[in-house]
Amino acid sequence: MFPLWSFLLHLFLVAAMAMQPTEAATVGGALPGCPDRCGNITVPYPFGIASDCYRRGFRMTCNNSHSPPKLFLSNNMAVSEIRDADLVVEAPIARNCYKPFNLGPNVEQTSVDVTGTPYTLSYSRNKFTALGCDTVALNFQGSNIYDYSSGCVSFCNDPSTINNGTCEGIGCCQTSIPRGLQQLGTVLQTLRNHTVTFNVSPCSYAFLVDQDSFAFQLTDLYNFARKSTVPVVLDWAIGSQPCDVAAQSSNYACGSNSYCFNAPNSHGYGCRCNNGYQENPYLPNGCQDIDECADPSTNPCSHICTNYPGDYACSCPRGTTGNGKKSGTGCIHSRKLPLVQIVLGIGLGSAFLIAIASWGYWALKKRRMILLRENFFKQNGGLMLQQRISSHGSAAERATIFSAKELERATDNYSQSRILGKGGYGTVYKGILPDKKMVAIKKSKVVDETQVEQFINEVVVLSQVIHRNVVKILGCCLETQVPLLVYEYVPNGTLTHHLHGDDHVSTLSWEIRLRIAAETAGALAYLHSATTWPIVHRDVKTANILLDDDYTAKVSDFGASRLIPLGRGQVTTLVQGTMGYLDPEYFQTGLLTEKSDVYSFGVVLAELLTGEKPLSQTRSNEEQNLAIYFLHAVRRNQLFNILEPRIRKEASREQLEAVARVTERCLSLRGEERPTMKEVAADLERLRVSPSHPWAAAPPDRSAPASHASARGGISEEESSLREDYSTAYYTAKIV
Ligand SMILES: *[C@@H]1O[C@H](CO)[C@@H](O)[C@H](O)[C@H]1NC(C)=O
Ligand SMILES: *[C@@H]1O[C@H](CO)[C@@H](O)[C@H](O)[C@H]1NC(C)=O
Ligand SMILES: *[C@@H]1O[C@H](CO)[C@@H](O)[C@H](O)[C@H]1NC(C)=O
Ligand SMILES: *[C@@H]1O[C@H](CO)[C@@H](O)[C@H](O)[C@H]1NC(C)=O
Repeated sequence: MFPLWSFLLHLFLVAAMAMQPTEAATVGGALPGCPDRCGNITVPYPFGIASDCYRRGFRMTCNNSHSPPKLFLSNNMAVSEIRDADLVVEAPIARNCYKPFNLGPNVEQTSVDVTGTPYTLSYSRNKFTALGCDTVALNFQGSNIYDYSSGCVSFCNDPSTINNGTCEGIGCCQTSIPRGLQQLGTVLQTLRNHTVTFNVSPCSYAFLVDQDSFAFQLTDLYNFARKSTVPVVLDWAIGSQPCDVAAQSSNYACGSNSYCFNAPNSHGYGCRCNNGYQENPYLPNGCQDIDECADPSTNPCSHICTNYPGDYACSCPRGTTGNGKKSGTGCIHSRKLPLVQIVLGIGLGSAFLIAIASWGYWALKKRRMILLRENFFKQNGGLMLQQRISSHGSAAERATIFSAKELERATDNYSQSRILGKGGYGTVYKGILPDKKMVAIKKSKVVDETQVEQFINEVVVLSQVIHRNVVKILGCCLETQVPLLVYEYVPNGTLTHHLHGDDHVSTLSWEIRLRIAAETAGALAYLHSATTWPIVHRDVKTANILLDDDYTAKVSDFGASRLIPLGRGQVTTLVQGTMGYLDPEYFQTGLLTEKSDVYSFGVVLAELLTGEKPLSQTRSNEEQNLAIYFLHAVRRNQLFNILEPRIRKEASREQLEAVARVTERCLSLRGEERPTMKEVAADLERLRVSPSHPWAAAPPDRSAPASHASARGGISEEESSLREDYSTAYYTAKIV
């Protein structure tokens, strides 16, 4: 198929070429609108044969009476060819036939004269030449023939001695002429009065001639009788200045895409087209690009030719190699190339596929991860939380929703070394946010999906709890399977740790304990009353009271907390809490009120007073429960026996008795008999600021406990029922 298609294309191109005018190449040599030829001679600008068609000094005339029309210089010398730096004119021949050796009036004289024109006789191209066998030829300048500059002599005796093509004195002699002449005169003489010439020709001829167009032959001795002119080369140049000077002149002749050259034989200059350009450099629009590719049969390329301004490029069709030039390697079909291409193609292709596939796999994995996180986010109530957060409180109060990545980074990927504590609720990690802020991050145990809304409620509400004694919740992360809560970091551990440390030595003074108690009570009171909806902590215990560097109490862990709608005093919930702190009433009824917290707080107070653990195997029977142990002691008027020794020393009796009273009321079996947290907080605060007298220094006054005890009267009945209730609560709670 390919050769047929190629053949048809070739036919078409050949046909198209045949229709083109053949003399296209010489068109455009003259100024626009000017005749550019005379007969068959091209007359390019700066020459011109019509008015306003030539540069000053380059006028020529065309005589149409001749056939074909003849071109003349202004001095009537006929022009036969115009070239870029010279032109060829027809010059006269001097001849002397039978004239004797004298310089009289019979001596033939001729002259080549171009004075008054911009032309000079080319000294390099022309030779002064004489033909003859008894010939003395002289040339001279000006009008005085004795001022001749040069000449030559030619003799011959026998035609057989003449060497065709050589002009060295036998039948022909030649000599150079000086540079820069515009006029040369010629005179011919004979030495022997033509007596010794062989009978071929008695005449002598002398002329200036283009050496390239004249090669002496024997026959010239006859033929020159019928010849009237010979070609002579005239050098021509623009002006009389060299290029560097001329280029500055407004009259500078070289157009665009051309360069200037200094004329070799005169002081003027000329212009030539740059490489790759053609036509006339003297025209105002300069030289034109050569379309080297125009003619497929002559263009330099064997296959594909591309023309550029001033240049061209050859290239090869696909599947072939080479420089594509006719003068070079052309285009060679390569058998190796396709194989290389196939191998290369397969290589690149598979690399590309692998890249795409791995990118796709990675993207899919990432997408799945994102979907999973989004799913967790939704499942964990993220949308609801976002809504709630955006509709609640000021920007500063709002909880932040952290990304899983942020928290991973903050906890060093949940490193073991970052664990602050572990418990039934989950694990707390120490985290460091990018702004160097320390946080505690709680990773909860799996949350019941049905309670998500409640969880969100808590986060929202707790994020609005601003109390210096409540651990602040900073935000949460919902992108993980279990929600992560981010709290303010409290550096000094739990109250449990300080009361019942490993070394069993309490480090807390009474003053600090009282302050902690008052602060905790204040916080709980705030939770119960000061927020929009009352919050029941449900898990008040020393382990949930964190201590700052200066032992400021911070109530924490609202994981079990419940909101109680206003106007409803109690809520039935699943019983939850910690043994030893659990409100027996709540345990038995499942009815949740703020008073459950009051009970638990009573246990905390008892702990602070006695330094005893809420549950201890070292105590007997039901007194393993600190609340029962404490109540028994108080009711048996043995309070001071169970106080921690340090407290006995540091605290005033009034304070101790007052705190014990508060504790006792908090531990009341029936919730309604317990004071509110507000009352407790107020009492403790009042005790805290009243002057403290160490127990030893104060005068003993046993009336109060006594009266307290006596007020209880015969306790046996009440106490036994109480004991029963507590036992039930304690042991059942233990089973739960
Ligand atoms: C011009 O025409 C003459 C006679 O027809 C011929 O001898 C000569 O070679 C031609 N010159 C050019 C340049 O064609
Ligand atoms: C043209 O040539 C003819 C014949 O040689 C001559 O008679 C005539 O004067 C010439 N014309 C010009 C303008 O030179
Ligand atoms: C020179 O050329 C002429 C004819 O052109 C010929 O007759 C003659 O023999 C030649 N002479 C030599 C020496 O070759
Ligand atoms: C030369 O020859 C011519 C004719 O043959 C003759 O008239 C003339 O006197 C001769 N001159 C000399 C100087 O011999």
